[in-house]
Amino acid sequence: MNRLSARPAETFLWGVSTSSYQIEGASKADGRGPSIWDTFCQQKDRIANGDTGDIACDHYHRFAEDIALMRDIGVKAYRFSVAWPRLLPTGRGHFNEAGAAFYDRLIDGLLEAGIEPWLCLYHWDLPQALDDEGGWLSRDAAGWFADYATLVARRYGDRVKRFATFNEPGVFALFGFGFGWQPPGVIDADAHRKAIHHVNLAHGAAVDALRSGVSNASIGVIHNMQPCLPASAALEDLAAAERLHMHWNQAFPDPQILGYYPKVLADELAPQIAPGDMARICRPLDWLGINHYSPIYARGDKTAPLGYAWAGPPAGMPQSEVGWQVQPDAFRDILLEASKRYRLPIYVTENGTGGRDQLDHTGNVRDQHRIDYLNAYIGAMETAMAAGADVRGYFVWSLLDNFEWGAGYGDRFGLIYVDYPTLRRIPKASARWYAERIAQKAARRSAEKP
Ligand code: FCB
Repeated sequence: MNRLSARPAETFLWGVSTSSYQIEGASKADGRGPSIWDTFCQQKDRIANGDTGDIACDHYHRFAEDIALMRDIGVKAYRFSVAWPRLLPTGRGHFNEAGAAFYDRLIDGLLEAGIEPWLCLYHWDLPQALDDEGGWLSRDAAGWFADYATLVARRYGDRVKRFATFNEPGVFALFGFGFGWQPPGVIDADAHRKAIHHVNLAHGAAVDALRSGVSNASIGVIHNMQPCLPASAALEDLAAAERLHMHWNQAFPDPQILGYYPKVLADELAPQIAPGDMARICRPLDWLGINHYSPIYARGDKTAPLGYAWAGPPAGMPQSEVGWQVQPDAFRDILLEASKRYRLPIYVTENGTGGRDQLDHTGNVRDQHRIDYLNAYIGAMETAMAAGADVRGYFVWSLLDNFEWGAGYGDRFGLIYVDYPTLRRIPKASARWYAERIAQKAARRSAEKP
């Protein structure tokens, strides 16, 4: 169901995205409880260089400066996530006023700067205390999440209208429970399946909580959608790519938006699915958020719990500095397919590229590679739109260099360089390029107006 009436082209929204654990730091400030990422970062050999999110970009204390940077770029929307363990240090029960007040300051600052807050409830930082009670492997997680959503709605719903339930459930379910690369570090097919269904139930329950708690809310969910390709033409690799596609691209958006699981997954999930569950999961949404970076690959592996393994892109493909394939046509195709399949207005809630950006001797960061990437990908999006994809906005990942999960601080995705020893922010060439691009589009639109 589409609750937004068609928006005229001139309201196309340009934004930037971040997430709580990746930028906030202040991991123990003002009563914040530990999340599963805090725990994971303490474990040996989990994160490159032993990095943690303890300090990150210290956005918790420097948010005003970061809002000023956004205003300079000229974005009209900022997508961020709320850290569940700041509001509820143990996930449920005790409410932490001091943590909640941080998001009041952030939201008020954004509104004053004329930037619309886009609030995501969950970008992977589950309170550790809930994981100790079973986390996403417990069916109770849906109720915990709905209670947290109710609290967020009550607290911020007077000023925030744009809400997403989850960021990339396909990614954290697969990496957290199938491959063990992210917390809670489980590698087990049955756990992976349970996590899929419970996160889906949590999504549906949170949509209802937000809908009843916020008047005029515009509610969506954010999925990472990439073509899933076989590492070779071998039959077992073809089958592996199909399974990866099901887990990555379909296991969440299909039940959430279309009301059913892919057949194979429905059979595998049968023991988990209680009567009424599919209706609990499939709640009316206003928009679909798509995060896109590059095609991904799988190869058959009978020894792996899921029956397949992750594979790198074939040799000879254009790649980013951090080894992700660069293929703008894939973005165009994903947008067209998703628009046709899900029939919701689409916002590109993440797109961008990583690099080993450095300050040069003049104190600047000349990230031409990022300008080239963004130029090509925004072009591909516009091609998709001209061919009928209903895309309403685009958010660059990311505003700032930040904690890139298992890769730590080595992979830089920001428009703004962060000098970690001093936490100084330095806009890269790409920030200036994005600012000009936004300004040009705005100028062209006003010239076109009768
Ligand atoms: C996405 C994540 C985001 C960031 C980018 C590079 O999958 O949502 O947090 O790590 O990748």
